Amino acid sequence: MRVNSVEVEKKGFLDMPIDPNLDLFAEIEKLKKEKNAVLLAHYYQESDIQDVADYIGDSLGLAQYAAKTKADIIVFAGVHFMAETAKILNPNKKVLLPDFKAGCSLSDSCPPSLFAKFKEKHPDHMVISYINCSAGIKALSDLICTSGNAQKMINCLPKDQKIIFAPDKNLGAYINKQTGRDMILWNGACMVHEIFSVEKITKLKERHPNALILAHPECEEFLLNIADFIGSTTQILNYSKNSPCQEFIVATETGIIHQMIKDSPEKIFIPAPPNNSCACNDCPHMKLNTLEKLYLCMKYETPEITMHEDLRLAAKQPIDKMMDMSRELGLI
Ligand code: 13P
Ligand code: SF4
Repeated sequence: MRVNSVEVEKKGFLDMPIDPNLDLFAEIEKLKKEKNAVLLAHYYQESDIQDVADYIGDSLGLAQYAAKTKADIIVFAGVHFMAETAKILNPNKKVLLPDFKAGCSLSDSCPPSLFAKFKEKHPDHMVISYINCSAGIKALSDLICTSGNAQKMINCLPKDQKIIFAPDKNLGAYINKQTGRDMILWNGACMVHEIFSVEKITKLKERHPNALILAHPECEEFLLNIADFIGSTTQILNYSKNSPCQEFIVATETGIIHQMIKDSPEKIFIPAPPNNSCACNDCPHMKLNTLEKLYLCMKYETPEITMHEDLRLAAKQPIDKMMDMSRELGLI
């Protein structure tokens, strides 16, 4: 069945029929070549998407890759703020996101209008924002950080520098503890990393005494206090690969376990149990993207991320600063 872009618009992109006999992996590879498109995926994407991606990484790695790609189209299998970051860095490229509704509870917890008022109350503070925020928040920030570089970058700043940290209170509190700072924290959090159950993890650890607990710094303090290693998704993945330990309790989104098993097939990875009855700690936003939506998005080149140039330029400054500092620190 042949359809054109106008029909896609009318029908609603996600409802377009797909021939069930199509080999979507082969079709996506074909589209990449035809359109000079690069497919970037975050570790929290479903396994099929990770397997067809050109680059899989944490937010720092993805931003770095997006900054240097020569492709004409960037297909971002992740959430909205990630694709938006790619667009900020690549105004002349088409940036596509398979499902436009793939948002982020953490980013949503910090609306720019409220944050601007909060910032006004602390005029002598610099604003450091975690990359998991909207372009509007980035534009209100002096420096962007990721879970992979936050601590090292903040350690470079003068000790008496007053700082507002947004939007993740758990990452902010963790950095405060690690660096001895007293950053003012915006009260935001990630729904996926706040779902873990201390009771269930403690029982699990009793049953698997040799397992190491690996946690993302977006987790709550109780979990970070019992973790054996804390880091970004890439750092957690590398730790599990290089550690002589054979068993791990993984306290982050379950998508990363796909790469952990690929890198270390002989090791055991147990998802940290959440505080709900469905025993699932998938990110509902990340998991909105599917292989089918990815194929349709590449075929019809929609939904596309667009942005007002003034906003883009304002949001780019603190990202450029992060990239410069990360390079100076040898982190990228
Ligand atoms: P990193 O992959 O940068 O650690 O970020 C985790 C996350 O929550 C992304 O949404
Ligand atoms: Fe946002 Fe959390 Fe999902 Fe990451 S895992 S996209 S921070 S809701």
